[in-house]
Amino acid sequence: PFYLVMEDDGSAHGVFLLNSNAMDVLLQPSPALTWRTTGGILDFYIFLGPDPKSVVRQYLDVVGFPFMPPYWGLGFHLCRWGYSSTDITRQVVANMTAARFPLDVQWNDLDYADAKRDFTFNKKSFKDYPEMVQDFHRCGLRYIMIVDAGISSSGPPGTYKPYDEGLKRGVFIRNATGQPLVGKVWPGPTVFPDFTNPETHEWWHDMVKDFHDQVPFDGMWLDMNEPSNFVEGSQDGCPQNNLEQPPYVPGVFGGRLRAGTICASSQQFLSSHYNLHSLYGLTEAIASHNALLRVRGKRPFVISRSTFAGHGRYAGHWTGDVGSNWEQLYYSIPEVLLFNLFGVPLVGADICGFAGDTSEELCVRWTQLGAFYPFMRNHNDHGTRPQEPYAFSPADSTIHSKGQWILLPAPLDTINVHVRAGHILPLQEPAFSTAQSRRRGMALVVALTPDGFARGDLFWDDGESWETFERGDYTEILFLATHGAVLSQLLRGSPHLDGVLLEAVTVLGVSSPPRQVLANGAIVSDFSYRSDTQVLRVPVSLPMWEQFVISWS
Ligand code: NOJ
Repeated sequence: PFYLVMEDDGSAHGVFLLNSNAMDVLLQPSPALTWRTTGGILDFYIFLGPDPKSVVRQYLDVVGFPFMPPYWGLGFHLCRWGYSSTDITRQVVANMTAARFPLDVQWNDLDYADAKRDFTFNKKSFKDYPEMVQDFHRCGLRYIMIVDAGISSSGPPGTYKPYDEGLKRGVFIRNATGQPLVGKVWPGPTVFPDFTNPETHEWWHDMVKDFHDQVPFDGMWLDMNEPSNFVEGSQDGCPQNNLEQPPYVPGVFGGRLRAGTICASSQQFLSSHYNLHSLYGLTEAIASHNALLRVRGKRPFVISRSTFAGHGRYAGHWTGDVGSNWEQLYYSIPEVLLFNLFGVPLVGADICGFAGDTSEELCVRWTQLGAFYPFMRNHNDHGTRPQEPYAFSPADSTIHSKGQWILLPAPLDTINVHVRAGHILPLQEPAFSTAQSRRRGMALVVALTPDGFARGDLFWDDGESWETFERGDYTEILFLATHGAVLSQLLRGSPHLDGVLLEAVTVLGVSSPPRQVLANGAIVSDFSYRSDTQVLRVPVSLPMWEQFVISWS
């Protein structure tokens, strides 16, 4: 509820209505606004500027200046809904490293949690969750997971501490009969912590600490905190009273105050939810900021979907579920700039778009724009096309085809390479002359047939002596791929092949994601695999002149 006006001569003023009730703001045809709020105090602030920067400073004098984020928070963040195990999350990080993309913070969505409940983790698919986070720390990465506002309330007593403790300590929002109000979010029936109650802050701290003692996460991602509710009001509906049926309802989502959220007449420590609804995200952000500070003793990093005036003092913001389309990329620019005026500078939209499939061009452009978002995170919905930076290659997209006509773009600076299935091609890193390039590392491209076979060979001599073949003065290596392995066999030749190393093996047509890759029996942990292109990449460092076996299973 704050606006800034620029006059024709460059002078500016601002108006802030410090009021958290549901409201309309209508732009009149003349230079005028009508502000209609449905409760609270008419607490107006007029900021005289006279320039825009001074207006913003005067506004921040009232609501609070932004917190200082940790430096790592300004780096690149990567997330998606659907990294369904630690193995997959680790693989994502390995793929980023293999593709040489910068990454500061790896995230998980609901996938990590046991039955989507806060402060738990899935003991099967995320069994090595604490170790994964520690391993990330060892490589200089940070880690953040999602925390939803709703606390699961349907388990038997003694099975879920956040609910049991919360009940005992009276921290949940109550319905008209004084019982905790039960709504429905991802885990099923849920109750909602009342962050206007100081005891809730203590309970929240204890839950954050308990979980942090198990999983040393670095920041918190606060979602569904409008608070969002999949049933209208509560599982039992809402009572009939003047807060539920007020004489005037502003143009809110669904036309009813309880649409998509909890009953307006539910009771919080400070007042009714009717008065406090807009403050839910802010109060949760304050509790989380303070809990993280106490638990980690370092600058807290909190990103929240719901915000209110003053939010920037405690947390940052992402702009929610944007679609993967050009219009949403476009609108993210004023949104990010506006949040800067509001004193929430740590803000960004989901890079490449969240909902729906992105395209390579959109994702590249959005990543370029995202470099200018203060909070730079690529986040994707479950079930949509992968959009991690490595998911789009600069050239090297791969298409498998048989008996089809496919039209490939071939602009002046692009050459399409076609490899027939069943062949193995040795490649060498290019240089400015062959004298230089023949000393560089080698790679193999293995194009498997549908039944997993390929063959190739390498002939190598000094490149200028007379009749090397006739004199037998050369090296010949045979490469064979079959049954999930590629191996080399030295058929004849010099013992050291000029010292050339094999540095990478790329296998095309690997139909299912390998769990393990071995090079001469040793585990290769930084291999990468793309299920959309069926390409397996294995970085190695092996003497080209020694026999090797690389296998995947
Ligand atoms: C809604 C959030 O806006 C989105 O970013 C998240 O992926 C889903 N909830 C699932 O947690």
